[in-house]
Amino acid sequence: MQAVEIVEVAPRDGFQAVKPFIATERKLAIIEELAGCGISRLEIGSFVSPKAVPQLADTAEVLRRARMPAGVALQVLVPNAKGLELALAAGVERVAWVISVSESHNRANVNRSVDESFRAFEAAWAGLGTARPKLRFGLSTCFDCPWEGRIAETAVERCVERAIAAAPDVEIGICDTTGRAAPDHVAALFGRLMPRYASGRVSFAYHGHDTYGLGVANAIEAYRQGVHVIDGAAGGLGGCPFAPGAAGNTASEDLVFAFEHMGIKTGIRFDKLLDAAEHAAAVAPDQAGGKLRSVPRRRALSGFASDSRGLPA
Ligand code: COA
Ligand code: ZN
Repeated sequence: MQAVEIVEVAPRDGFQAVKPFIATERKLAIIEELAGCGISRLEIGSFVSPKAVPQLADTAEVLRRARMPAGVALQVLVPNAKGLELALAAGVERVAWVISVSESHNRANVNRSVDESFRAFEAAWAGLGTARPKLRFGLSTCFDCPWEGRIAETAVERCVERAIAAAPDVEIGICDTTGRAAPDHVAALFGRLMPRYASGRVSFAYHGHDTYGLGVANAIEAYRQGVHVIDGAAGGLGGCPFAPGAAGNTASEDLVFAFEHMGIKTGIRFDKLLDAAEHAAAVAPDQAGGKLRSVPRRRALSGFASDSRGLPA
């Protein structure tokens, strides 16, 4: 049993930040290699305007063609009713609807006010009746906004409350979109959210970026506060094209190394993930991050015997 679920988001948050189009075949090869590492959930793409994010215009095809081992859950990001409709038509079991806490980032990302985005979500979700996919409600800029700076915890709480009112069965993704959060901030925010809102029906996930090298420390702090679903991107790829200054996601291999080393099971083979991360990072070597991705380091590690988790023994 895994004690923490590392959700692999390189195929969405990672690829979306890469300008030259990555051929669908190459995306599929990376996705299938990642899925073979023991990952239990993969954010495989998004249904957004192809003008806003041309890189992910082939998400429907990727979904159709990806050969996944049994038990890998697939999630796609959607920003509006049209995205939800396309996701349902593609038969996905999990959607991640994203709204920002800060007005400026929501406007830059989805061209709407926060209130307009919430009203669109409320109408679309109510309109689904009982045939609903599983919902990740992603709240961007929960800590910091490129234009508004530090975000008040009360503003995050208001968004969490509004999301739960519309969707009582939900996983709420608390996102450090810019990577400017520090562990005390993560502890303070989850310290408020978890006792008030976590329940049998409402759970939380943490999505962090590694702009200042605090991604792993922040994830560990979220875990300590009771958050057992954490996003990472293989090779430390990633970054919101609509959040200037943000670097890649916290690297999945760094998260797996840290948690496994602490005795907290991820269910992911570290050695296989290192290979997959290297292939993912190769789509945009200048954008990749992470501490363990570099080839010399990996070669050095592979000189050691591995234990059953694929960690250097
Ligand atoms: N998928 C595909 N196409 C979509 C779409 C979706 N989810 N939502 C809108 N469109 C299309 C519309 O059909 C319309 O097409 P047309 O010009 O051929 O008629 C066009 O996009 C404009 O629609 P509109 O509703 O006016 O959108 P907009 O221009 O105000 O942009 C979003 C709003 C949300 C569609 C756009 O900002 C977006 O896709 N943002 C996502 C950004 C993102 O992925 N960020 C990273 C993840 S956090
Ligand atoms: Zn992100």
